[in-house]
Amino acid sequence: MHMRFVFAAALLIGGLVSCVPPMESAPITAQEDALTVQDVLQIIRGANLFEHETFDGNDRTCATCHVGQDGFALSIERVQAEWALDPSASLFRAPDSDSLDGASYDMLREDGLVRVHVTLAPNVRVLDPVDGVNVQIRPDGRYIVAMRRATPSSVNSALTQHLMWDGREGASLSHQAGSAISEHAGGRAPTQDEADAIAVFQRTLFSSPQLARYAYTGIDPTLPRGRTASERRGRAFFESGPLSGSAGTHGLCATCHSGPMLNRTNAFNPGDPPDLAFSGNRTSEFNSAGLPTHTYEITAAADIVNDNPLVGPPGVVLWPAGTVFHTTTPDPGALVVDTDPSDGDDDPSNPCISVTACFVVPGTAIVFHRIPTLWGIRHTAPYFHDNSAATLEDAAAHYVDFFGPTRASMLAQADAMEAIGQIEIAAALRDQAAALVITEQDVLDIAAFMRLL
Ligand code: HEC
Ligand code: HEC
Repeated sequence: MHMRFVFAAALLIGGLVSCVPPMESAPITAQEDALTVQDVLQIIRGANLFEHETFDGNDRTCATCHVGQDGFALSIERVQAEWALDPSASLFRAPDSDSLDGASYDMLREDGLVRVHVTLAPNVRVLDPVDGVNVQIRPDGRYIVAMRRATPSSVNSALTQHLMWDGREGASLSHQAGSAISEHAGGRAPTQDEADAIAVFQRTLFSSPQLARYAYTGIDPTLPRGRTASERRGRAFFESGPLSGSAGTHGLCATCHSGPMLNRTNAFNPGDPPDLAFSGNRTSEFNSAGLPTHTYEITAAADIVNDNPLVGPPGVVLWPAGTVFHTTTPDPGALVVDTDPSDGDDDPSNPCISVTACFVVPGTAIVFHRIPTLWGIRHTAPYFHDNSAATLEDAAAHYVDFFGPTRASMLAQADAMEAIGQIEIAAALRDQAAALVITEQDVLDIAAFMRLL
């Protein structure tokens, strides 16, 4: 028994996996051999539930938003085509209407964003009025904030440790399925069996044979080599190495999109330690989608100690428990939730992704999101949690503005070092800053390479 059969089974259900390349080269492994008829039946059941089951709710199914032809995500074109075909289609339901009353859907039709209600960790407050719609308080005092977010793909979700843009579902696809139904469909809760079957089905969705092989055998996927000169130049941005203008190495994207899933920081990240699953790329700060903002107050639940030798002696308390951080943002991401729900506890949120991030402006929390994988990214436009980048070129161009301020501060630091006679440090900083430039040609090259992932 191997993957091809699994996919063939799923295909029978209704072309669900039509976007996924054929699995011809997926190797037959011990684990795949171990797939029983029972397993296959559960996958088929899960596929059916994903595609057709409404859970007695508002007629939506998982596939209403996770559309096979959109790489199991939701494109703005899809929303518009659905609307043109049938404005009463199940995509258009009150929770995602402009005023929650089902009267109009201008926002959804324009930006493709879906409403989600995020329950904030116990150490987070919202300083805006509790209006019962955008901001609510539960009887236990915890805040619930309505945000509008892009639908991420459920392809490769077997390989995702931090589900959702803010990571609040951890790695549990079964738990996430239950949350999705109550959030978007408003129906009955799924039985544990149903939730498990949906999870098992999603675990069979991979963007390429390499990714399936990684899931089943642990053999790391490797970056495609690139055929054209442009693709190969684009690849260089994803090769881990020191940022150096003089050496001509600029693994800029790799500083956050590293590791087998291209979703971890690496050792050359100038701001954050390696292997972080969360980071900030200023999508929220730029807010080019024009989403409404709220002000969040996060109280550090424990002492925050230095973990970065560049900042000072490790272990020294930088922010004692009780220190209050503020941020005003359209989407606070991981800042306001428990990003490790696997222990079943409502742990406090952490105002610091890393000490460096928390050190920049004292008392101000920097917004960070789950670093998304980039495998299969060509199937799932538009990009970012607010759908603000329409194409891969737009996504790459976003980073011109992202790196601009970082580069400016490095150059200012270099000037300051030079002024106190630290010529070598100044030169090193300038060399690093030179690798932070992204030209128009780079944007095209990076996008060309990302189309191969
Ligand atoms: C109305 C549209 C809609 C429906 C219906 C829907 N989802 Fe989602 N899904 C979303 C959005 C939006 C997010 C991201 C929310 C967030 O990050 O807060 C999401 C996130 C996810 C993720 C996380 C992917 C990742 O990489 O983080 C998975 C898995 C998922 N949904 C599966 C499902 C399943 C299973 C169902 C059916 C039980 C379902 N969804 C129904 C819109 C939808
Ligand atoms: C400082 C860390 C960081 C760096 C450096 C970085 N990214 Fe990202 N990237 C992120 C984060 C975090 C997100 C999710 C942002 C969001 O939507 O809020 C993201 C999202 C993306 C997405 C959208 C994924 C999706 O599913 O919508 C693309 C494409 C992307 N990055 C490409 C790149 C490219 C190309 C580079 C190099 C030019 C790069 N990234 C450099 C952190 C980073």
